[in-house]
Amino acid sequence: MRAAIAGTGGYLPERSLSNDELAAWKGLDTSDDWIVERTGIRRRHIAAEGETASDMGAKAALAALAQAGADVGEVDAILVATSTPDSAFPATAVRIQGKLGVTRGFAFDIAAACTGFVYALGVADALLHTGQARGVLVIGTEVYSRILDWTDRGTCVLFGDGAGAVFLRATPAGEGRGLLSTHMHSDGRFGDILVVDGGAGSTGGTGVVRMAGREVFKHAVTKLAAAVDEALAANGLGHDDVTWLVPHQANIRIIEAMGKKLHLPLDRVVVTVDRHANTSAASIPLALAEATRDGRIRRGDLVLMEAIGGGLTWGAALARF
Ligand code: COA
Repeated sequence: MRAAIAGTGGYLPERSLSNDELAAWKGLDTSDDWIVERTGIRRRHIAAEGETASDMGAKAALAALAQAGADVGEVDAILVATSTPDSAFPATAVRIQGKLGVTRGFAFDIAAACTGFVYALGVADALLHTGQARGVLVIGTEVYSRILDWTDRGTCVLFGDGAGAVFLRATPAGEGRGLLSTHMHSDGRFGDILVVDGGAGSTGGTGVVRMAGREVFKHAVTKLAAAVDEALAANGLGHDDVTWLVPHQANIRIIEAMGKKLHLPLDRVVVTVDRHANTSAASIPLALAEATRDGRIRRGDLVLMEAIGGGLTWGAALARF
């Protein structure tokens, strides 16, 4: 059996905040030109007061189930990648289980920052292969607006809120669809270059994102390049076989570097960073939802996903749609 991506869904909060609005904030010395030139970001969505990761994730999940033609009775497991859970526990995944009205199976969260969705795909794939689940919701949902220092121009302009989801269904391998492989990596030596200190078990800390941007950038380019090579090699495939690159959306310069490495023109790369900014674990499933709905990604396409985030964590996944 293979884990076929049977449906995708996305949800973005109503409020969209532009670079110009940020630039107009007193004391935040930034500009639309600087942000667009260095990152490609033009706007980002911000959750409403009281709107949580589980609220958004449940909406994205329902959209994914609807696209798959599945009802909640098909859901055996719910995996949620998030760095901004509703609470220390219950897990946001279990909150979403409750909101969807799923009364069986199991649900848990995965903490791998911006790589969380790729990790969650890897875990879901393993659950399907060991027969522990036949239908798995994999959700990335984030409210980074609540963990940003809105006076730090080096970080607050980079992130946004949103949720994305896929519904994976066990499908006979003979059909040719599904996840071909997932590749997960982490290296704790670099934990402090992208970090949210503080949190439920902490003895201190600020509770906001701190980042050494240049360091992260350097790691991103080399580690993502290695991860995509690893994914293609594991399947005996080459750059030419890739129909779509669906990268984590952190920075257009990193995305362009990866497209170049794969010899893919930018019109074969799904880009949302301009409108969504970096939605961390939600960015890849949001991009998948957009590109399957507008008809870019079709049945039979080979889709390569890659991400890097705090940990450091990084990885790649390859799927035949
Ligand atoms: N507006 C205006 N100026 C800003 C700014 C902003 N929003 N943020 C930083 N600057 C300034 C800095 O203060 C610095 O000024 P100085 O030269 O007077 O000290 C200057 O711009 C250059 O800063 P630097 O951090 O070296 O810029 P950069 O070219 O590395 O771009 C990032 C910064 C964050 C856009 C870039 O490093 C990056 O994208 N890194 C990877 C981040 C990432 O992907 N993180 C998520 C991974 S999941």
